[in-house]
Amino acid sequence: MRNPIGKKVVDIKPSGIRKFFDIVQETEGAISLGVGEPDFDTPWHIRDEGIYSLEKGRTFYTSNSGLKELRQEISNYIKRTQNVEYDPLKEIFVTVGGSEAIDLALRAMVDAGDEVLIPQPSYVSYEPCAILADAVPVTIELKEENQFRLTAEEVLEKVTDKTKILVLPFPNNPTGAVMSKEDLEAIAKVVIEKDLFVISDEIYGELTYNGEHVSIVSIPGMKERTILINGFSKAYAMTGWRLGYACGPEIIMKQMVKIHQFAIMCAPTTSQYAAVEALRNGDDDVKMMREQYNQRRRYLLNEFERIGLTCFEPFGAFYVFPSIKKFGMSSDEFCTRLLKEEKLAVVPGTAFGDCGEGYIRISYAYSLDNLKAAMERLERFISKL
Ligand SMILES: Cc1ncc(COP(=O)(O)O)c(C=O)c1O
Repeated sequence: MRNPIGKKVVDIKPSGIRKFFDIVQETEGAISLGVGEPDFDTPWHIRDEGIYSLEKGRTFYTSNSGLKELRQEISNYIKRTQNVEYDPLKEIFVTVGGSEAIDLALRAMVDAGDEVLIPQPSYVSYEPCAILADAVPVTIELKEENQFRLTAEEVLEKVTDKTKILVLPFPNNPTGAVMSKEDLEAIAKVVIEKDLFVISDEIYGELTYNGEHVSIVSIPGMKERTILINGFSKAYAMTGWRLGYACGPEIIMKQMVKIHQFAIMCAPTTSQYAAVEALRNGDDDVKMMREQYNQRRRYLLNEFERIGLTCFEPFGAFYVFPSIKKFGMSSDEFCTRLLKEEKLAVVPGTAFGDCGEGYIRISYAYSLDNLKAAMERLERFISKL
């Protein structure tokens, strides 16, 4: 039999996050601060709307692009948060999580050999999706001395004749970094000058702790060059509902919807009805969860200071990214020993790109009690080093 597997796929490494969690499952008494998933249940009124839609027999495909009323609510949401108008029928469509939107945006926009700029450390899917789309991923190393923000100079350094897309991963997973309006204006200038397009992954846009999130689409000249990606997983604690969306120029959306139509058909119908409710009446729930995350964020930063772990202050998402450089071991070794010796699972920074070496990602999408127990273990581990 000849090899049934394509080489391009074989060469892609599996996610470095999952590897640790397979071990956690088998370790009795282990505490995990590894998964980037809200610990809250989806707010009841949102679940109720999903249940109601089932009771009403709304169990059919929606249009490929998603329910009209959901796209209208997404349009209203972006108008009220970023003061940018998207046509709900032509410029917005509903996807299976932000994940699908990332994949589709890359597949719809690149030709073989086009270069995609990917700032790292960042979410694990950009690079493999770029490779699967036959593009060439080009890494930009984000630096702690810049609070892991992306600078215009760093983009300029990596732009070539082949560069087509810049992925903008803020608020950032794993660092928690956020971009200010001024940072984005400087990036926008380069993007326009070099005729690039942006895929802006704003899945953590609702989770910022030093003021409101600013989207690059609100900078003049950027709406027409940007695919804005967002979803319901993080802000509304709806990971399992698998619902996200993409907004962008009609000419690009049409091609993305075409792939979506053949690969997926439509996002889950029940989830779409629930998402309408989330956008209409979910602001207070988001606020409550944001406050809780912020409390935990502050707790962890104080604890790190107390036990002597250096960490820049992150203002977004639900992750902290402390440095472990002073312990003289690799991130992988640190995490492996921490899990083995103290049964505490966190993720090596290298799971988010090679430049994550020397850091670990700790998620605070866990209860304060869990965090407290985890910090005891971390302190004990560090005191032995
Ligand atoms: C930065 C970032 N983007 C996108 C996603 C995908 O989220 P989903 O597909 O659940 O919307 C995640 C999930 O962890 C993420 O951290």
